[in-house]
Amino acid sequence: MSGNKILDRNLTIEAVRVTEAAAIAASELSGMADEKAADQAAVDAMRTAFNKLDIDGTVVIGEGERDEAPMLYIGEKVGTGKGPKVDIALDPLEGTTICAKLAPGALAVMALSESGKLLNSPDVYMEKIAVGAGLPAGVVSLSRPIGENLESLAAAKGVKTSDLIACVLDRPRHAELISDIRKTGARIRLITDGDVAGVIWTSDPSTGVDIYVGTGGAPEGVLAAAALRCIGGQMEGRLVFRNDDELARAKRWGITDLDAIYKLEDLAGGDVIFSATGVTDGPMLEGVRVVPGGISTESIVMRSATGTVRKVKAFHRRP
Ligand code: FBP
Repeated sequence: MSGNKILDRNLTIEAVRVTEAAAIAASELSGMADEKAADQAAVDAMRTAFNKLDIDGTVVIGEGERDEAPMLYIGEKVGTGKGPKVDIALDPLEGTTICAKLAPGALAVMALSESGKLLNSPDVYMEKIAVGAGLPAGVVSLSRPIGENLESLAAAKGVKTSDLIACVLDRPRHAELISDIRKTGARIRLITDGDVAGVIWTSDPSTGVDIYVGTGGAPEGVLAAAALRCIGGQMEGRLVFRNDDELARAKRWGITDLDAIYKLEDLAGGDVIFSATGVTDGPMLEGVRVVPGGISTESIVMRSATGTVRKVKAFHRRP
């Protein structure tokens, strides 16, 4: 949770401005059943906010590869170019479907790290396992079956496996995983979307979630790892390549070990700043609200070098 202080600490407040801008823009289209429009609004707003910052930023986890994402694509330079050299992972709207349905938990998310310390991952799936802080190193691992992981976690926490709550994305691909978890007696919180939050919940005892497990987006895996680096916790990720196109992406990214298990520091190393702003109300953050005279936002911003976690409630006067 602590480490080198490479990044200027004032970048934490700049990071909040960036996710606030994206969240406000997305929220204007929340509940409108138009995922693409809300995502585009968030992307535009986040890019505009980034370009006001005195950073020499490079997007390493973004909206996609250059040929498929016109903005905030992987490799795009953002910022004025005058400040520190940083790598950026971003998801201007994490939970596009959640936002379109005005359901709970859509977020605008980004992480900054010193150059070269975020995993340069293609936009494929990632198998993930994560637990919160204060547990013995290696208490769970992707290299072991889920049943063993739950037994090991229960023993470390001094509880029964049936006391544990696992958070899993509700997807047909998880049928076997869910069945294996149920065999242990552990309970499952199924989420429809939004596994960045699912991972973060493992580090927040008020959520009751003990472990996050399952396959979701690799970009979201890097973002979630950045958050855990700051609040504490353990995570592993393994990229999943489903077809020749994804294997070709792996090759383009220079990934030779297709089965590599990435540890937390491999996913998001160095001095990391993570910021998320609520778009819709969720268990972690209030969503964007129209209030008399303006708009309110709630964000969480944290930094690995100090482990400081701040909740920022902001009022924005409407132009
Ligand atoms: P989007 O905001 O891009 O829709 O992502 C939402 C999400 O639920 C992520 O949190 C998760 O990692 C990923 O989608 C899972 O992918 P899929 O919906 O294909 O199972």
